[in-house]
Amino acid sequence: MLSRQIKDKLQGLSTPFYLYDMGLLRETLKAAVDESSKYGYKIHYALKANFDERIFKTVREFGMGVDCVSGNEVRYSIESGFPAASVVYAGVGKNDDEIRYGIEQGIFAFNCESRQEMEIINRIAGEMGKVADIALRINPDVDPHTHKNISTGHGDSKFGISYKEIEEVAAKLPELKNINITGLHFHIGSQITTMEPFINLCQRVNMLYKWFTGRGFRLTHINVGGGLGVNYTNPEAEPIPDFKKYFSIFAENLDIDPAIEIHFELGRSLVGQCGELITKVLYNKVTAAGSNVAIVDSSMTDLIRPALYQAHHAIENLSRNGDKGIYTIAGTVCESSDIFAKGIELSAPLRGDILTIKTTGAYGSAMASRYNMHDLPKAVYSDDL
Ligand code: LLP
Repeated sequence: MLSRQIKDKLQGLSTPFYLYDMGLLRETLKAAVDESSKYGYKIHYALKANFDERIFKTVREFGMGVDCVSGNEVRYSIESGFPAASVVYAGVGKNDDEIRYGIEQGIFAFNCESRQEMEIINRIAGEMGKVADIALRINPDVDPHTHKNISTGHGDSKFGISYKEIEEVAAKLPELKNINITGLHFHIGSQITTMEPFINLCQRVNMLYKWFTGRGFRLTHINVGGGLGVNYTNPEAEPIPDFKKYFSIFAENLDIDPAIEIHFELGRSLVGQCGELITKVLYNKVTAAGSNVAIVDSSMTDLIRPALYQAHHAIENLSRNGDKGIYTIAGTVCESSDIFAKGIELSAPLRGDILTIKTTGAYGSAMASRYNMHDLPKAVYSDDL
């Protein structure tokens, strides 16, 4: 764990901040690229996980494309030097300006989430005298066995086109002359830690691929989304996710013409473990109920995952390695849910101690807010230390 190795250097820095281990990031990206390229698979980095400039630049060095979910993400990707032809754009609510921009730039594909969206993209492309490439995002109704707020592929989710509608959609497509269906897109959810949901996904993909090609659709790619989880409980046991296993599951279970490209959209598994939130203890108190609480100088505005999903992030006191006790680590914001961890065991966190909140490289700084007029969190990169 980088923070432990360089704890003396961290002492002098003003907290809170995200500490990024750029060496681990590069190793992780390399492992993902090495394992995926064994099968000729292509990775789009899910920019929503972390849009930090230095991280994004590093991703670019590894030749990945980008998975975007807003017009601003598409623009940022293109302005950061990613070729438009490596950008995919999903999202249930693309507005007309965002669609126009994507068409103008010639992105690889719109991952289209509803019948109506197909018609709107068709109309806008027609007005522009263009044909837009589309992948149909089909909701495969696969249970990812993850937290309900980050599961997207079940039958009642707002994402994607219902598999029950595909007959109607396929019948409508020949009328829509300004869109070209180049692929199918799926994404079942995030923080998936067993392979079974991915095997189920492959089975659905095989079925739908046959269904579409059997009706004369000429697909060039299948995008199976992201979702590979990371180890939040014991990050040091698994700093780099098992990409070898993950990609081999798709290689074994997909039954698709080898000429069709297989695309992935990975976020958390690429950047999750390279980030730590470094914070300092401000105060200690004991509640009437007898809980020992340490108030730190960070909050849910820097890292909302514990408040939003009751997510567990391992926490360590970098300043002390003594007798352990049971503590609640609380943030500064005026919300009862602003708690990083309840009843965890760690060396007494006393005023001035530096704590690390681990595995916060994904959906950490990207979800920060300015609630209570807090500053957005700063970033410190290992390359600069
Ligand atoms: N593709 C699509 C269409 C997605 O919606 C997502 C994530 C990904 C790819 C990347 O998934 P990943 O490989 O990172 O699991 N804020 C939540 C996670 C939300 C994920 C949203 N979609 C969290 O902090 O756990």
